[in-house]
Amino acid sequence: MRLATKLASVIAVAAVVAPLALWTGPLEAAGDDAAIKARIDLMRNDVLKNWKPITAYAKDGKGTPADVSRHAKALGDAAKKIPSLFPKGTGRGDFPDTVTRALPDIWQDWKGFEKANQDLIDQSAILVKVADGGDQDAIVKQIGMTGKMGCGGCHKPFRGAKVKK
Ligand code: HEC
Repeated sequence: MRLATKLASVIAVAAVVAPLALWTGPLEAAGDDAAIKARIDLMRNDVLKNWKPITAYAKDGKGTPADVSRHAKALGDAAKKIPSLFPKGTGRGDFPDTVTRALPDIWQDWKGFEKANQDLIDQSAILVKVADGGDQDAIVKQIGMTGKMGCGGCHKPFRGAKVKK
């Protein structure tokens, strides 16, 4: 093959491949799927895992204020990762109700969603301080606030009912 012909065929191939590379439809969908999985993992492994021992302290007096402080700190750190795991187009409507409980309201009211997330960050930070103070009654009260404002404040408006698979 002459060089010019070779070049021409390379260019022809490039012309076919380039639009494919630009066509990110299915790739994006795969990424979105990953975001849903990543945020559910975060909720289970980082959020709930730290929240459980905190509620055990409030309900059954299990653990110490130092434990509450440590888990509240980790909870706040996990909360900071939440918004980035909710890219547009990854809620109900775009994905089946069995795959995600994220309501479209999240993206219709992104500011409200961020505010609800900030509430969890703020309440966790207060909980760290109160727990470091060691006053059991105050700690239990602040755990209640964290659950109500931090978890409930977002789940109520932004998380839909569970649907059986
Ligand atoms: C800023 C919003 C927000 C905050 C704050 C928040 N969550 Fe969530 N959480 C969600 C949304 C939305 C979902 C549904 C995600 C999905 O299905 O795609 C969810 C899902 C979950 C899940 C379900 C995971 C599964 O197994 O399906 C658990 C558990 C959970 N959250 C626990 C908590 C706890 C505990 C707190 C408070 C300490 C909390 N979340 C705070 C928005 C939030």
